[in-house]
Amino acid sequence: MSTPAPDAAAKGLEGVVAARTTLSDVRGDVGELIYCGYNINELAGKVTFEEVVHLLHRDHLPNRRELADLRQQLVESRDLPKGVLDILHTLPKDTPPMHALRTVVSALGCFDTSRDQDSMDAQRRKAIKLIAQIPVCTAHFHRLRQGKPLVPQDPQLGEAANFLWMINGEKPSREMVDTMDVCYVLHADHGMNASTFSARVTIATLSDMYSAITSAIGTLKGPLHGGANEGVIKMLQEVGSLDRVDAYVADCLAQKKKIMGIGHRVYKVLDPRAPHLKRMAQVLSAKLGEPKWIQMSERIAALMLEKKSLHANVDFYSATVYYSLGIPTDLFTPIFAISRTSGWTAHVLEQLADNRLIRPQSIYTGPTDLKVTPLDQR
Ligand SMILES: CC(C)(COP(=O)(O)OP(=O)(O)OC[C@H]1O[C@@H](n2cnc3c(N)ncnc32)[C@H](O)[C@@H]1OP(=O)(O)O)[C@@H](O)C(=O)NCCC(=O)NCCS
Repeated sequence: MSTPAPDAAAKGLEGVVAARTTLSDVRGDVGELIYCGYNINELAGKVTFEEVVHLLHRDHLPNRRELADLRQQLVESRDLPKGVLDILHTLPKDTPPMHALRTVVSALGCFDTSRDQDSMDAQRRKAIKLIAQIPVCTAHFHRLRQGKPLVPQDPQLGEAANFLWMINGEKPSREMVDTMDVCYVLHADHGMNASTFSARVTIATLSDMYSAITSAIGTLKGPLHGGANEGVIKMLQEVGSLDRVDAYVADCLAQKKKIMGIGHRVYKVLDPRAPHLKRMAQVLSAKLGEPKWIQMSERIAALMLEKKSLHANVDFYSATVYYSLGIPTDLFTPIFAISRTSGWTAHVLEQLADNRLIRPQSIYTGPTDLKVTPLDQR
């Protein structure tokens, strides 16, 4: 292949198509998100996270028997190898949870004796293990860093309920579970986002499932991607009250500082996940008697739309939802990872089913024909 023309590089790969997929479609011009043919508005509140896992992995919504089988596989996959528990115990308590997660997911690969098996069945088993174990790793690390005893998983509970149970050690209310489950459904997949892309690049070298998901976690962590939800709460805390919002936004815009949770590479209209999260944030804020968080958020979103024509994205209101559920800020991005593992693993399986190495080119813009000056003359 010849060297690309100098103007061929799209900064940030904007507009570049990197794969064909049947998993999800992000329709940025009309603000729609489709999972395997279903609009997200059709799924949210009508199906559980486990049904979405089945949809992404098997390309159809499960019947009762298929759903029961999947739930059983997830429950049976939850317990962590002792070696991974030992690693969790040795991590410094002040490790940010996304660092901890990236480390232990890599370690999970060391303790899975089937790690190098590459049949599609083996890959699927590894995918289910990761979906089941990533929440357990997150919950255990959270308990350990607080010096609290670990909470064993409850096989009677679904994924959303079990995670809340394992971080808090008390049975969550129906409302908490339903809210969390909708959040999981809304975050499950999202086209060729940065972390999914890195998972696909990694597996396309015929590396392994654990390496692909470790890459994805490292990519999700950044504030321009999944890390934005933590940034939203930090911003709201910094602003402090509704009467300070206008000045804060004006100041950020003047200094060209990004407002977390606003803007999107693909959506040029409202992110379709945001209204679902906004509704849940409104209900929870009103119930918890802390309406200022949602009021401040709504004002920020209105100002950004008015001044920059930028809309709220998925992270903007999910932050208030998680905060209202009493979840610590630094677990917001791990929760995103817990849900998105369903999409990442589905993309890995899809890539493996029709693989070709992903290897783009770059345009060299440096000098040529330089001559080496001897070391003692430089
Ligand atoms: C999501 C995001 C990374 C998309 O980035 P992108 O497509 O590369 O867009 P750019 O960063 O080039 O921004 C384009 C313009 O919009 C502005 N802009 C984009 N997002 C902004 C934000 N959150 N706050 C303020 N200005 C923003 C940029 O400053 C730039 O303005 P300019 O043309 O006047 O310089 C970006 O909107 C962002 O950083 N948002 C905040 C982080 C976030 O919420 N991430 C989660 C995404 S789901």
